[in-house]
Amino acid sequence: MSMTLMLIAHLSDLHLYTERSETGQAPPDIRYIVEQIVSDLLSLEPRPDLVVISGDLADGGTDDDYQLIRQLLTPLPMPIMAVPGNHDRREAMRRVLGGWLVGLQEGKFLHSRVNINGVTLLGLDSVIVGKPQGALCRERLNWLEGELRKAQPLTFLVMHHPPFMTGNPHWDAYSLIEGRERFRQIIDASPKRILCGHIHQPLHTQWGPHYGAIAGSPAFQYNLVPGSAATPIEHNVSYCYPLHCCQPDGSVLVHLRHIT
Ligand SMILES: [Fe+2]
Repeated sequence: MSMTLMLIAHLSDLHLYTERSETGQAPPDIRYIVEQIVSDLLSLEPRPDLVVISGDLADGGTDDDYQLIRQLLTPLPMPIMAVPGNHDRREAMRRVLGGWLVGLQEGKFLHSRVNINGVTLLGLDSVIVGKPQGALCRERLNWLEGELRKAQPLTFLVMHHPPFMTGNPHWDAYSLIEGRERFRQIIDASPKRILCGHIHQPLHTQWGPHYGAIAGSPAFQYNLVPGSAATPIEHNVSYCYPLHCCQPDGSVLVHLRHIT
């Protein structure tokens, strides 16, 4: 493995919209918050090598929503990789962002494959059309299995719906409802780093040999209390995004960048 220091910024759940917020929860000033994130990314020296977005780029997913996303993120000089979330729309996302996102694969799913500086990143489309929950059907897991045969030892998997438990029964019922077991069998041959969204609260887990991380949302965040069965409610807390720093020795540091 030949690797130099590589920085991966993990964003998620931007929930950008132009006319109408599908959730009704994304604040009208979300585009300005995203501009602050872009400013922070541009202020870093060395610059991150890659930005990954683990779904819910849009809050409804019209062509105009994706045009806005593209316009806001265009100042970033580094490649951007993204998977869809349950508030995205595959057709519009591919139509507007298809030639612009890095590593996007052809076909009905919006999977991605990126090899950069000795690291492999695979983006998995876990969307079930019309449902908040996610699925990894046989076709998607077969794709993953084939890709993992060609992957570098340091591999990141990016997907909207967490395949691991979050510690909250409400969210676990709204996460990946199909394919968890086979997904785990497929990836278990070597440790992976799994980056997710959907939960709108930062969370880290050691899941068997794998590291898993959920990034918070700059649009709105939930108060997920560990061990509580209560339905999480929104709360107003500061936002931060993780910066994964892949070291030449194969280890990975995770720094948090706070946006005020
Ligand atoms: Fe979301």
